[in-house]
Amino acid sequence: VPLLLTPGPLTTSESTRRALRSDHGSRDPAFLELVGRVRTALTRLIDPTDAWTCVPMQGSGTFAVEAMLTTLLPHVGAVLVPTNGAYGDRLAAIVRRSGRAVHVSRFDEVRPVDPDVVDAELASRPGVTHVAMVYSETTTGLVNPLAEVAAVAARRGVRLLVDAMSAFGALPLDGREPIDGVAASSNKCLEGVPGLGFVLARRSALEGCAGRASTVSLDLHEQSRRLDQDGQFRFTPPTHVMAALDAAIAQHAAEGGVAARGARYARNRDVLVDGLRDLGLAPLLDASVQGPIIVTVRAPSHPAWSFSAFYDALLDRGFAIYPGKLTVEETFRVGVIGQVFEADVRRFLVAVRDVLNVMGIAPLGPA
Ligand SMILES: Cc1ncc(COP(=O)(O)O)c(C=O)c1O
Repeated sequence: VPLLLTPGPLTTSESTRRALRSDHGSRDPAFLELVGRVRTALTRLIDPTDAWTCVPMQGSGTFAVEAMLTTLLPHVGAVLVPTNGAYGDRLAAIVRRSGRAVHVSRFDEVRPVDPDVVDAELASRPGVTHVAMVYSETTTGLVNPLAEVAAVAARRGVRLLVDAMSAFGALPLDGREPIDGVAASSNKCLEGVPGLGFVLARRSALEGCAGRASTVSLDLHEQSRRLDQDGQFRFTPPTHVMAALDAAIAQHAAEGGVAARGARYARNRDVLVDGLRDLGLAPLLDASVQGPIIVTVRAPSHPAWSFSAFYDALLDRGFAIYPGKLTVEETFRVGVIGQVFEADVRRFLVAVRDVLNVMGIAPLGPA
């Protein structure tokens, strides 16, 4: 199998995959203990007190985002969604579909959300009760200024809900005011396997949400109530996925937690960006906004370029990359998260050089 240089599912460790081999019953004391351990460990990553709770949600990351928005948002008032990519747009789509009012504040895909613009939007829209935003916008790999937007929201007296899918576990994040919810999943920077999302919710915000959720299965309040009551999920839990996440969290801690994991990914990114530049391939984003998760690369403007030929040739050499997601220009993406280390990135760069040669595209000259 290839090394996955993608935003997830990711290449996982041997010990994480080993954890998948046990069949747990959903009511086994050992499994309930494991669920409790995972919930506590995830909560501790953003808050040392008991002011927050972790509510795991079956499904992919979007299910957790939808559970967060459609449980924590009131039915009156409106949400402001500053967006600079597909995942920000998805937040707005989820809110709209649930029948709640949403205002979209659109930013260029290559620029961060501007806290001053958010401030002005909030000033002119007194009906807005919440801001919902993406921390690491995986569409491009850009990191949005979460702390600055949180400060603006606090000043304006509105609450903040965060899609931290590709940030959680590798980028700094804490349960500061006025954040009420953070959604993420097992298969990104925590390096678990796919099949589970989770929401970290401020208890004081979640407590008032009984009966508010728009759907039965994504009712975060009910899911939380049941888990707190007897440790069980309401519906069939992804037992193997939970066990793998438990193992992955232990490895995250052993590596040195958020700071160390973020540093490894940042090193991967730096080696990747420098190496691609040497091969004539330019990153889309300015270095000041480029996050340590995934790098968007401009496709070479060369008549012999073909993404699918490039992709296939890299796959033959053991690497899976990712297509671009921009409409404005042709790009491809390379993820640097998962069990990926500097030596892997250097091997990848050798493969890229080789493939460009074979395609008749090299040498392009430094970008
Ligand atoms: C920022 C962000 N939000 C949401 C999602 C959706 O996650 P999933 O595809 O697991 O539903 C992703 C997936 O890459 C993401 O990067």
